[in-house]
Amino acid sequence: MIVGEVIKRLQILEAQPFVSLNGRPEIASKVSGKSFMAILSGRKTSVQLPGIMNREYYGKAKITMSIDLKSVNNLINNFANLIEEQRINEYKGDLRVGVDLGTANIVLSVVDEDGNPVAGVSHPGSVIKDGLIVDYVGAVQIVRKLKSQLEEMLGITLTRAATAVPPGTIGGNMKAMSNVVESADMDVTEIIDEPTAAASVLGITDGAVVDVGGGTTGISILRNGKVIYTADEPTGGTHMSLVLAGNYKIPFEEAETLKRDRTRQREVFPVIKPVVEKMASIVKRHINGHDVDTIYVVGGASCFDEFETVFQKEIGVNIIKPAHPLLITPLGIALNSLK
Ligand SMILES: Nc1ncnc2c1ncn2[C@@H]1O[C@H](COP(=O)(O)OP(=O)(O)OP(=O)(O)O)[C@@H](O)[C@H]1O
Ligand SMILES: [Mg+2]
Repeated sequence: MIVGEVIKRLQILEAQPFVSLNGRPEIASKVSGKSFMAILSGRKTSVQLPGIMNREYYGKAKITMSIDLKSVNNLINNFANLIEEQRINEYKGDLRVGVDLGTANIVLSVVDEDGNPVAGVSHPGSVIKDGLIVDYVGAVQIVRKLKSQLEEMLGITLTRAATAVPPGTIGGNMKAMSNVVESADMDVTEIIDEPTAAASVLGITDGAVVDVGGGTTGISILRNGKVIYTADEPTGGTHMSLVLAGNYKIPFEEAETLKRDRTRQREVFPVIKPVVEKMASIVKRHINGHDVDTIYVVGGASCFDEFETVFQKEIGVNIIKPAHPLLITPLGIALNSLK
């Protein structure tokens, strides 16, 4: 990692040894020599200190880092390749598993004790709608199938997993999500909220995470690593496909396929652009009054190349979209699973 890129601000403090990454003092440790160990993007990383720092400064400096998009993208590209090629990475220590029960896709992800991606499997499904399970038996069957696929690849039995729910999910719905995982013979170690999962992959503690999924778009504002505001709006990729279906006078399924065909993106995007503009205006309304200088866009429906340009123009703040935005939350769930 090139420190010049990631260190935004060096602040000399009077305090005792204290190194903070993105404002999280507890995650940096073992300051020694010219580097320190930190958890960055959920992974143990050795951060090299710049030449201007000497040993005496280490104990006094507060190091504030901005997101290192390159290493986030390397991480997520690696995970995407594992899913695509149906293979596993070598790993270290205990494995951690995440189950993402999405509207459009169910994804199981596995990371090792350092947070490195080990394996991933995905299945398209229509068993869940916007955080509500509409086909319980179907959901369990898919999770079971994905679990046994992973077990075959890894040669071990998976017994524990974390899962996530959209922010604001309460009571029975939360229980139903964990019941799906338990019915597939895994103990649920954690139920986290989706923006927290995404934030841990991105390595952020502040800003807004906008998750543009199939049925809904979730808007979450984080401050010091805590979700302080959330909203879920009924717009997303399904809305885009409906607009395409109407425009081309084709069935919904055909519109879905057309929407995802990268070779036709230039032709398709102008048709769905008004939907993206409307999404942006909704997001703008929600962040209004909050001190947000960066929006991180995740979720499958943000895959279009020009998506962030439209958001940027409408909202006027910095927009960051990582590689494979639809895999950020699934990977983050595994990273948040207890060891
Ligand atoms: N390459 C692509 N280009 C455009 N849209 C895509 C692409 N891949 C997936 N999508 C769309 O992304 C949506 C699914 O995104 P994602 O997997 O993040 O949602 P989900 O988590 O299943 O749903 P939700 O968050 O609403 O519960 C679908 O509408 C799908 O059509
Ligand atoms: Mg989702």
